[in-house]
Parts: sequence; structure tokens; C-alpha cells
Amino acid sequence: MGSPGGHTGSRPLQLAVLHGPNLNLLGRREPTVYGTGTLSDITESLDALAATLGARLSHFQSNHEGLLIDRIHAQIGVADGIVINPAGLGHTSVSLRDALTGAAVPFVEVHLSNIHSRESFRHRSLLSDVAVGTIAGFGSLSYSLALRGLVGHLRGRPLNRPEP
Ligand code: DQA
Repeated sequence: MGSPGGHTGSRPLQLAVLHGPNLNLLGRREPTVYGTGTLSDITESLDALAATLGARLSHFQSNHEGLLIDRIHAQIGVADGIVINPAGLGHTSVSLRDALTGAAVPFVEVHLSNIHSRESFRHRSLLSDVAVGTIAGFGSLSYSLALRGLVGHLRGRPLNRPEP
């Protein structure tokens, strides 16, 4: 679990999907920006995708920074990787960044919206430079792309290399 430097085995990967503040409101929250799908829709489609990729997911959303940090700590020795939409905390929280680097579990950062085409305060991410990768701007598909990218990374098959 949590193996550094690539994972080539065939056992199911254990991955954590984390969502930050206000993402519980997906579906009713600014639908022109975030779409009409709910968090449950995202969870269902990620579980279906994970099954095809040989991965098992745990899911967690919180509006509280400390609870997210506790959840990240709880992944040490448990999860092989993390998919996280930090929401607004990605722009502001040194502590969230420190939790992710401290846990040393590889993670992919996700945003539904294209944060770079929005207000300037959203252009900065405190997570991107320590993430395996960042996906933004594809709505709920951002999560699926992030999951595919993370699994490829952990299995030692980055997306830019063809499947064997
Ligand atoms: C978001 C983008 C953030 O800027 C914003 O604060 C969110 C959601 C996204 O998924 O597009 O809450 O992370």
C-alpha cells in the first residue's frame, strides 16, 4: 500500500476520493459553472470506472479543513493514491498542502471548472506543484480523467505511454 515509485502489481489499488467545501451542493450550486450533476452522480460513475480499472475507492466530502486533513492522514498506509478536489482550499490552505506532502500519498488535483479562466484568485493552486497532475475544466469528467491518470501513474503506465 502507498508504494512509492510506481505500482506494477495486479492487486486492486485502494484509492481515496476527497472533496472540499461546498461540493456537497453540486447540482444546485452555480450550475452554469459546475453543471447539474450531483456529488452522488460523481461517486457512482467513479465507482463504475474504478471497477474496470482494478481499483477500489473510498469517498469523503467535508466543509471543514481539519476534517479533510484528518482524512488525508488516515490514508497513510491505507491508500495507494488520492484524487482530491480541494475546492476553495486549494487556493488558500498551506495546511492542506502540508497534509498531502506529509502523508506522502501520491495525489491528483481535480477541478470541475477551468480555474485558469476564472477570477485571478483562482489561478493559484497551492497543490499543483506537489501533485502527480492536475485536471481542470471538464466538469464531472475531470474526476474520471484524474482517476485514469492516477491509476496509470501508480501502475507505472503514465498516460503518454501506450497500453501494452
Ligand atoms: C473548484 C474550483 C474552486 O475555485 C472553487 O472554490 C470550488 C470548486 C472546481 O471544482 O471547479 O469550490 O474546485
